[in-house]
Amino acid sequence: MRGRSDGSQKRLLTSVGVVAVFLVFLYVYFGSKGNGESALEYGSRSLRKLGSSYLGGDEDTDLGSKQDESSSKFGLEYGDDGIIPKSFPVCDDRHSELIPCLDRHLIYQMRLKLDLSLMEHYERHCPLPERRYNCLIPPPPGYKVPIKWPRSRDEVWKANIPHTHLAHEKSDQNWMVEKGEKIVFPGGGTHFHYGADKYIASLANMLNFTNSNLNNEGRLRTVLDVGCGVASFGAYLLSSDIIAMSLAPNDVHQNQIQFALERGIPAYLGVLGTKRLPYPSRSFELAHCSRCRIDWLQRDGILLLELDRVLRPGGYFAYSSPEAYAQDEEDLRIWRAMSALVDRMCWKIAAKKNQTVIWVKPLTNDCYMEREPGTQPPLCRSDDDPDAVWGVAMEACITPYSDRKYLILFIAHAIVVFLSLKASAYNMPV
Ligand SMILES: *[C@@H]1O[C@H](CO)[C@@H](O)[C@H](O)[C@H]1NC(C)=O
Ligand SMILES: *[C@@H]1O[C@H](CO)[C@@H](O)[C@H](O)[C@H]1NC(C)=O
Repeated sequence: MRGRSDGSQKRLLTSVGVVAVFLVFLYVYFGSKGNGESALEYGSRSLRKLGSSYLGGDEDTDLGSKQDESSSKFGLEYGDDGIIPKSFPVCDDRHSELIPCLDRHLIYQMRLKLDLSLMEHYERHCPLPERRYNCLIPPPPGYKVPIKWPRSRDEVWKANIPHTHLAHEKSDQNWMVEKGEKIVFPGGGTHFHYGADKYIASLANMLNFTNSNLNNEGRLRTVLDVGCGVASFGAYLLSSDIIAMSLAPNDVHQNQIQFALERGIPAYLGVLGTKRLPYPSRSFELAHCSRCRIDWLQRDGILLLELDRVLRPGGYFAYSSPEAYAQDEEDLRIWRAMSALVDRMCWKIAAKKNQTVIWVKPLTNDCYMEREPGTQPPLCRSDDDPDAVWGVAMEACITPYSDRKYLILFIAHAIVVFLSLKASAYNMPV
């Protein structure tokens, strides 16, 4: 009797020990990924940094001298804590459109040597602390509370985005039109002149999705739209329960993203240039480009390979551009070169119709493994982390599906820990 209960106690102890060691192992294994720094430490440190740059004595900036004390909107008084009371001035009107890390004047003043052909001038370049304005951007004169969704998909207050040159420039392409106090979006685009909804339905039809619904019974949920204009494509996907992130550079149509955001559509200023997009691998089920004017063949297909990285297994790339249908020599040349490139990337044509081609990415690594040795583009190095994105340079390589490697490592660790624990449990004096 006694022996048996002893035995079960020992077994209980052993299993508790196994679980405990396993948890410690998990903690060490995953904890070590942050260079030994906990998220909390990091968070509080960056908060302090933020605090010091915003609250510190930046009185001497060129703006600070112009500020009107009476316009201060923000006072901080921590009394005895030793933090000096401080307030934020309102920026003057020249800075009403300031986007700190995408500021062309700053690039000019810092004399950055940027490669325009690589679009580096549309990437982020942030000011040093002493060059930050630390002021509040005022709303434009006559600013109104934005129109509510879903009406905001189709109209916004003109006063909130007082730039109408895009409306004039793109009026023939049905992007938007001025109407009294409002700017109205008929849902058109350079490519989908007759409306984004019809265009979206035609993409769904091309893929044989039920009811011409691009969301394919809930399987297609996230979309990345590159070179999005005023983001009408993304706007019309919302009613299909699809969330699109729209991306456009701060280029000649510099306020296109402002229109998108005023409409209430997820969008950000960015570019396919030299740095990875700020998303981990396998983030989107469909990428879309209609007349996005990107040269996909440049630099060994590096930009197309970046799209490939953020696409999920079996993800689509819908491409509507003259190269997909035009018959002149130049477009045919580009089409042939692109077809050859995506073939080596293991993409297949899912459908091609009406000036649009939709490619699909493979579901597994099999096709990559079957390529002839030396086929370009190469697979990425095994130590490349496809989910490291912030400030990471793009590379012209294919990101294979690599989770299996980590899983095997993980299981091997667990077995080693378990065996050593068992051994020590038997030697344990009881
Ligand atoms: C596709 O093209 C055909 C013929 O060229 C045309 O009849 C049809 O309306 C087009 N469909 C869409 C959705 O544009
Ligand atoms: C859609 O259906 C047509 C006709 O049945 C077929 O030829 C085509 O391959 C299908 N396309 C896709 C992407 O499944």
